[in-house]
Amino acid sequence: MAETSVALIVGANRGIGLGVAGEFLARGWSVIATARQPDQASALHALAERHPGRVRIERLDMNDPDGIDAFGSSMRDQTLDIVLVNAGVAGPDHRSATAATEDEIGRLMFTNAIAPIRLSRRLMDRIRRDSGVLAFTSSVMGSVALNPGGHELYRASKAALNSLTRGLHAEMSGRKVTVLTLHPGWVRTDMGGPIAAVGVEDSARGMVEVMLSQQGGHRHRFLDYLGKEIAW
Ligand SMILES: NC(=O)c1ccc[n+]([C@@H]2O[C@H](COP(=O)([O-])OP(=O)(O)OC[C@H]3O[C@@H](n4cnc5c(N)ncnc54)[C@H](OP(=O)(O)O)[C@@H]3O)[C@@H](O)[C@H]2O)c1
Repeated sequence: MAETSVALIVGANRGIGLGVAGEFLARGWSVIATARQPDQASALHALAERHPGRVRIERLDMNDPDGIDAFGSSMRDQTLDIVLVNAGVAGPDHRSATAATEDEIGRLMFTNAIAPIRLSRRLMDRIRRDSGVLAFTSSVMGSVALNPGGHELYRASKAALNSLTRGLHAEMSGRKVTVLTLHPGWVRTDMGGPIAAVGVEDSARGMVEVMLSQQGGHRHRFLDYLGKEIAW
């Protein structure tokens, strides 16, 4: 019998991560879904009930370095076909480098850029060779080439993520893994707001299709949810 493919979605209890988890399940995959507070992740538990035996819910807070390391160790016997590091925050409401405190910058950069790399280093040996994909939910706002100004802190955090993922891809060159930084579209979530252009289901379907289409490519690419290349 064919082995079920496994996707790990980090930050899967709501928004885009929840949508991506649902999309993989609809395609017959098994999903390891992380949440900061698994007992309160009611939408994930509902998915688990709809797909018996195919959803594992794990606790992971990306602001807890020891927790990241422990989570990595807990995956040691698991082969992962696709990893999507999706958890992210918008940062302080004032959005200004001039107004920002060290704490605000530290938290934003750690959650959006540093923690994803720390976690990926812990997981890289677990990703299936050749067809494996390590993907990050970045944003077109992380593009330096396409930056019209505004939202400077969030942009900087995603630009840092993009740069770090480039280094990670270089570091993983012997492992034959595809590394993707993905723009999900402007999506109607708590972060994207109610007037955003794209629904969660459309974004999630596109993200999954893009990840599947890149399996075996072994490149590092910056793509949107429709597969369009984004300038770095
Ligand atoms: N929505 C958009 O238009 C848009 C556009 C471009 C990129 N993005 C990116 O897409 C990703 C998902 O965004 P979204 O729109 O789905 O946002 P969302 O609805 O606010 O969901 C954010 C997710 O990230 C998790 N998260 C935040 N901080 C975390 C931490 N320290 N540890 C673990 N999990 C954490 C949240 O968990 P809790 O429930 O515990 O807070 C939640 O599951 C983010 O990386 C965001 O930057 C979004």
